[in-house]
Amino acid sequence: MRLLVIHGPNLQLLGKRQPAIYGTADLATINRDLKQLAMKHNVILTTVQSNHEGQMVDLIGSARGRYDALLINPAAYTHTSIAIRDAIEASGLLTVEVHLSNIFAREAFRQHSLIAPVCRGQVSGFGALSYRLGLEALVALWTQPAPTPATASTTPRASRKQMRTRRRRS
Ligand code: DQA
Repeated sequence: MRLLVIHGPNLQLLGKRQPAIYGTADLATINRDLKQLAMKHNVILTTVQSNHEGQMVDLIGSARGRYDALLINPAAYTHTSIAIRDAIEASGLLTVEVHLSNIFAREAFRQHSLIAPVCRGQVSGFGALSYRLGLEALVALWTQPAPTPATASTTPRASRKQMRTRRRRS
């Protein structure tokens, strides 16, 4: 599996930036750790950090065909960037969104991700471990694709009716 890891804005400051929230590991340490894990799983890993929305859009846009999966911490763009969301959707890449902090336990403006709906899943709140878990999830999905769990809105009308009938009968 060829995996592209994108770290968004301000993540070059990890280790120094609000360690109580983002942890003490710097970006080089996180990348080194991911490289080791990637080697264990035969994953070819490329890591990039960018502070620029357009550059992130370009990276994702040119990833199609060159990578099989994307692990992305869009950082502040999580909450603002329709352009990054559209780029991920258009890329068709198997994508996992990661956050060091638990964005749902923070300020209201961080509790909404524009990116999550176009990702296979999200890992949030485990510090540097979020990246490792994200990589593990991508490897598992790549080697053994699991069907997406059905939800009310994605379950076909017919089977929803069957389920209601079954429930009434039991
Ligand atoms: C972050 C959470 C974002 O809200 C914030 O803007 C970041 C980092 C995280 O990893 O916890 O820069 O994505």
